[in-house]
Amino acid sequence: MKKFLMAISAALVFAGCGNQQKPAAEKCSPRHSTKSLVLYYSQTHTTEKVAKLLAEAVSADLDSIVPVEPYNGTFEETVERCKKEMDGDEKPQLIKSLNVDVAEYDTVYFGYPIWCGVAARPAEAWFLRFDLRGKTVIPFCTFGSGGLETSVAVLRKMAPSVNILDGYGIRSARIDKAAEEINEFLIRNGIKEGEVAPEVPFGDKRELNDEEKGIFDAACGDYPFPLGTPVKVSSRVAKNGMEYCFVTDSKDAKGNPAQAEVYVIVSNEDGVGPEFTKVVR
Ligand SMILES: Cc1cc2nc3c(=O)[nH]c(=O)nc-3n(C[C@H](O)[C@H](O)[C@H](O)COP(=O)(O)O)c2cc1C
Repeated sequence: MKKFLMAISAALVFAGCGNQQKPAAEKCSPRHSTKSLVLYYSQTHTTEKVAKLLAEAVSADLDSIVPVEPYNGTFEETVERCKKEMDGDEKPQLIKSLNVDVAEYDTVYFGYPIWCGVAARPAEAWFLRFDLRGKTVIPFCTFGSGGLETSVAVLRKMAPSVNILDGYGIRSARIDKAAEEINEFLIRNGIKEGEVAPEVPFGDKRELNDEEKGIFDAACGDYPFPLGTPVKVSSRVAKNGMEYCFVTDSKDAKGNPAQAEVYVIVSNEDGVGPEFTKVVR
């Protein structure tokens, strides 16, 4: 019975702060204080910026994952090495000892860049080696186009008995928005006290009109990798404007036809063009 009541109260905490359809302003009080660690891997320092912002925001200790054989090649060389490791053609990563004892922490903010659709190899190598049962893991990542949802699904598959939250992700091109978004993320998840505007749900998916095609092109036209052709769209009112979710006909990593969702924000502010925020494959 006690366990049942604890489960119900935990569910209420999460439902209360994460429910996207709640009509009134969301006011969340922090959960009981726990000892938190922000642990991250970063090759080119983008994820490191998010890690430092998070550590400051939640007064957590900070440490980084350092591979024994650093990835210090070019982008192409790193992609090649990453693919070989993922295919099992190269030995798995070894990680240097951390400066902290992870066993001492209740909550681990776990950060990584997205590599080939999932958490970067050194981060995954650490995650696979450490027993995180009994802790709350809050993933965060940075990416060129997207990968939070897929990478978190993979982490959950690797560690089904660990409590892994949905996490936070941001495109490296939008890193200047990280501080504001992290603040909102922490409030919505009941980690930090404060108020945020409730999230309005997206409307039904429908055919695109010419104006929406123009918004997609303006937001995504200069992205160097293909995002597909938009075939449907849904929209909702966002904090400072409108947010669009374009469904595109695209291809998966193996070149097979696949659909993706490309998210774009159109701000009300003068002089700010449509912004591509993430793709979910
Ligand atoms: C080997 C490699 C693979 C990558 N694969 C992806 C990918 O699949 N999807 C994506 O959106 N970005 C991808 N990126 C871009 C990185 O996720 C992005 O630049 C990230 O912000 C880098 O973080 P860091 O500066 O902390 O290393 C890749 C980058 C590298 C080096």
